[in-house]
Amino acid sequence: MLAKILHERTKHYPNKFAKSLGYLDWENQPSYYKEYLAPKIELDYFDINLPYERLYTKNFPFDINLKTIGTLLKNSLAINAIKRLYTSQWEVRVNPSSGNLHPEETYIIFENKITHFNVRDFSLEILGEADKEIIKNGIVVIFGTIPLREAWKYGERALRYCLLDSGHAIASMAFSANLLGFNITKIEHFPFKKLENKTAPNEEEYIENAFVLHNKEFELNIDEFLNTPLNLKALPLAKDSIRWEVVYELFESFEKEEYSPKFINEKITFLPSKFNAEEIIQNRRSALGYIPEFIDKKELLDMLDKTLPRNIPPFNTNAHFNNIDIVMFINRVNGLESGIYYYSRNNLLKHNFTQIEDRLYLIEKGDFSEASKFINCTQDLGKFSSVSFSFVADFERITKNYHYKLTLEEAGMVGHILYLEAEAKGIRGCGIGCFFDDLINNEILDGKLQAVYDFTIGIPLMDERIIKINPKEAKNYIS
Ligand SMILES: Cc1cc2nc3c(=O)[nH]c(=O)nc-3n(C[C@H](O)[C@H](O)[C@H](O)COP(=O)(O)O)c2cc1C
Repeated sequence: MLAKILHERTKHYPNKFAKSLGYLDWENQPSYYKEYLAPKIELDYFDINLPYERLYTKNFPFDINLKTIGTLLKNSLAINAIKRLYTSQWEVRVNPSSGNLHPEETYIIFENKITHFNVRDFSLEILGEADKEIIKNGIVVIFGTIPLREAWKYGERALRYCLLDSGHAIASMAFSANLLGFNITKIEHFPFKKLENKTAPNEEEYIENAFVLHNKEFELNIDEFLNTPLNLKALPLAKDSIRWEVVYELFESFEKEEYSPKFINEKITFLPSKFNAEEIIQNRRSALGYIPEFIDKKELLDMLDKTLPRNIPPFNTNAHFNNIDIVMFINRVNGLESGIYYYSRNNLLKHNFTQIEDRLYLIEKGDFSEASKFINCTQDLGKFSSVSFSFVADFERITKNYHYKLTLEEAGMVGHILYLEAEAKGIRGCGIGCFFDDLINNEILDGKLQAVYDFTIGIPLMDERIIKINPKEAKNYIS
């Protein structure tokens, strides 16, 4: 099957990286911002003051209007900081992205309007207006991916990063929607393709996921959407670009199907956080590096517990495949001996590891911090982190290309939970897309599972580059 072949083909090895240009073609870097030649509606927002646990528990529903949509985006996909280093600066968003390249685009349908979220201007561009309402008591949030943005830098392995980023974007939206009291319904058979467009050669955009966010029973008139003419004229993103064909082949191969993931019913508990829910979302950043210090076992277990597939954010999006378990390099955790551990979220592996706690097993004791640096493409994040994770999947369960997509999106969502949980506990996380796949798969798991995403948490080095900004002022910082 194509997805599995391409996963194999895009593995990194210590002596051979997946195919890419091998240098950064700065001249031709695609723009992070898609801009349609369309009328704009400026967005506004309000602040939400809810405690940390409300990220996961039910909240009172807000009315649906432009200010709520602005607030949804402010807390999920908008620009919220500038990182400045010497003479260069770049914008970062509420959601993380591999290489900060942000391949995903967002479309919002509300009332009779079909719009695109212009991230730079914090506005909605009107692409079409139906004669009647397309959606009542809700909005439709649609995600698209422009693979070129990742492929430009990462070549063939970009196909993985696009899907992981998409998992992060879905999770980001799910937490933000929950704070507004919205329920989420995934719609598999939305006529997505109508929005797909290409601004220049290699700039294909693939519409991938659609969700209705609603505060009551909603009504969606798909025919009205289909009958509305769209203006999809947009500015090109890059001057010239090399085409990494396999990335596009994979995106063409995702046949849509109904898939109903499973949920567990275990009660959720919370360690207190000194930050409120919105602070946690807005403070989330990737760690620049770590000070090699310890976190507590109870904090780690509390974080892991939030990754379980309960029918709450972000898994209430139904965008997971119950196909991610976690290998952990415990480098510095009070209450746990250093070593390699296995956390069974989905019971994917038959094993005889020593059980330590519910779902937690010891594979091997020892100091593996140097190994965790090496495995993560020799990044220090692995070595100095308190814990370094590999999210691993059972590829036997992947019998369709679409299952692969769901698996990687699930990994992105698990990463997103760990990012937020780390902030809640006053520490920090960082996603890691660059790792030597088979060192994890073969040395630790005897080839039974495949690593799809790595992650680290720990005590962060102070990142003095960050200047927080609000989404409306972002455009003033962008040249
Ligand atoms: C899928 C994914 C893979 C990533 N891989 C790495 C990595 O290998 N090394 C690293 O230092 N950061 C990595 N990051 C972190 C990004 O560089 C970071 O999200 C981006 O620069 C934006 O910064 P922010 O997270 O503070 O918003 C990754 C992030 C994601 C979502």
